[in-house]
Amino acid sequence: MTSAELDRALSLIRSIPDYPQPGVLFRDITPLLADAAALTTTIDALIAPFRGEFDYVAGIEARGFLLAGAAATYANVGLIPIRKAGKLPRPAAAVSYALEYGTATIEAHDDIPNGATVLLIDDVLATGGTLGAAHDLVSQLGGSVVGTAVLFEIDELGGREAVGDPRLHAVFHS
Ligand code: PRP
Repeated sequence: MTSAELDRALSLIRSIPDYPQPGVLFRDITPLLADAAALTTTIDALIAPFRGEFDYVAGIEARGFLLAGAAATYANVGLIPIRKAGKLPRPAAAVSYALEYGTATIEAHDDIPNGATVLLIDDVLATGGTLGAAHDLVSQLGGSVVGTAVLFEIDELGGREAVGDPRLHAVFHS
């Protein structure tokens, strides 16, 4: 992928002010997903630092699924869906984390062998609560996280420190 291709992919992320609530600038990736060339460029850039190092990708519901599914096929590896609480029939692990108001819980099935190498994927890194919990969840499953890849990191929220992964890779920043 070239920097011009990446610039074009970035230009397809739509910024929507005051959604889902006043004061929030929502990054809408659906125009990027709808563009075949931009989607391929983006998936390539997302996994590039980790190529050949992981046997699975784990994607976080819901928008993380879109990227993780494409990345799994692109890298020819398996996919672990990390779901919000109550969606899986037989969750093997669950981790709760703090939100601005209240808590959230993510869960996963255990379909991977002990020691499996896993690349965590999500669309946006904001406060880092979700990805921090996802790290703990994969550890509970016996997996080994090789790194974390996000499409978009909102630098000012400090999520990188909260996740604490020295190999946290963001394709785009704001
Ligand atoms: C969004 C986003 C990340 C998370 C980032 O998910 O997709 O998973 O928030 O926030 P954090 O770094 O502060 O934890 P959301 O819960 O809005 O779910 P969605 O993907 O289903 O829209």
